[in-house]
Amino acid sequence: MEKARKLADILGRVRDGEDPAKIRYESRQLLSTLRLSDISKAHKYLLGSGMSLEQLRTLVYAFASILGDQFALLRANLSANHPVRRILAEHEMFECFLADLAEANLELQEVETLTELSSEYRKLEHIAGHLQAIDIHNQREDDLIFPALENYPCKGICVVMSKAHWRIKNMVGNLTMAVNNFKHFEPEQFKIQINALSCAIVPIVREHIFQEDNILYPVALDVIEDDKIWQRIKQLGDEMGYCGFDAQPCS
Ligand SMILES: [Fe+2]
Ligand SMILES: [Fe+2]
Repeated sequence: MEKARKLADILGRVRDGEDPAKIRYESRQLLSTLRLSDISKAHKYLLGSGMSLEQLRTLVYAFASILGDQFALLRANLSANHPVRRILAEHEMFECFLADLAEANLELQEVETLTELSSEYRKLEHIAGHLQAIDIHNQREDDLIFPALENYPCKGICVVMSKAHWRIKNMVGNLTMAVNNFKHFEPEQFKIQINALSCAIVPIVREHIFQEDNILYPVALDVIEDDKIWQRIKQLGDEMGYCGFDAQPCS
């Protein structure tokens, strides 16, 4: 059986609830021989068989928990200067910011007397500043990556990702606004607001990154075969630089 079919078959068995221990050995053997295009093809088979993106996402999650994610495989196949490598590196950096946000929120919740000078508030302010860069990252995907995929069947995935970008923009915007308006809150109200926003932002952005790393980019790399398109994306991306870095050290 073709490898992509085998993978689709394994994913189907995960969906049907087969014992992960049984699937693990077989999956690992298969994975060691897989190419990126096989993963992408398997996704296409499943989407073509009527599976929704939402179901595929759940399945890819379940599969990753059995096998380890496809991120390592995806990255191993990219040249050092490929534009997607930069996107993946930014994803990793945002994962760090998300972990920092979760931690800063927990610390903030513990403070008894919260002021603008509290180290917990300043840490949160710093992380929120970094996290704002996700807007630029997402905008770049909207402007450079999604248009390049417009004529391929994975267009639907881009629509879902684009909607998520709006949601993330709003949530991160609300976080920035709350942090910048600290003075207008009662400290306890501020804590409640930050807790609600952090608890929404962290899992939603993590999941978004997971979907892009494990579904969108494996498919994009498979369907866009013309190197000129990637070169053009790289050129435009180079002009914009990296997202999420700033020159000011944490004070
Ligand atoms: Fe992204
Ligand atoms: Fe994105």
